[in-house]
Amino acid sequence: MSHIDLSLGRKMMSREVFMGAFIFGVGGIATVVFGAPIVAYVLGPLLKQPTDVWRDIGAVSDWKVGETRHVIIEYPDQRSWAGPTRETASWVRRNEPGSVTQFTAFAVYCTHLGCPVQWLPIPTLFICPCHGSVFYGDGRVAGGPAPKPLFRYLTKVVGNRVFIKTEAVPLTT
Ligand code: FES
Repeated sequence: MSHIDLSLGRKMMSREVFMGAFIFGVGGIATVVFGAPIVAYVLGPLLKQPTDVWRDIGAVSDWKVGETRHVIIEYPDQRSWAGPTRETASWVRRNEPGSVTQFTAFAVYCTHLGCPVQWLPIPTLFICPCHGSVFYGDGRVAGGPAPKPLFRYLTKVVGNRVFIKTEAVPLTT
């Protein structure tokens, strides 16, 4: 009789151990699955690299006066998994002498839904290939559906070098 009781006790003990380990394991997995995004959300801003930095895009003499050129710019956020999304582009124009700034840099993104606009030197318009928005040479909307002018990056000239201030382009709506 005592032999049977011991065996039953061992079975119950092993079942309790198993259930405890199972609950502990499931609880641990649930903590990681649900906790990791929260930790990432809280700590993300601290680990994020700034994106609004001045970037050298070339020499002043690379542009003729009045010329608008397509320039690839990299965000400073160099996370390896970002791949090609680390790159964006700008249409950069060397202004006529006497203008407020020596250069003007437009974001390539259409303010409708973000397609990259194309510059047409003749007739000096930006055209969006997606839904047909048209922008004047100064970035103002000439024809919708785009609701706002093209976003402009800040520019400056230091010595003979042209700099553009990369920053997040505001949402279109
Ligand atoms: S994204 Fe440019 S017109 Fe729609």
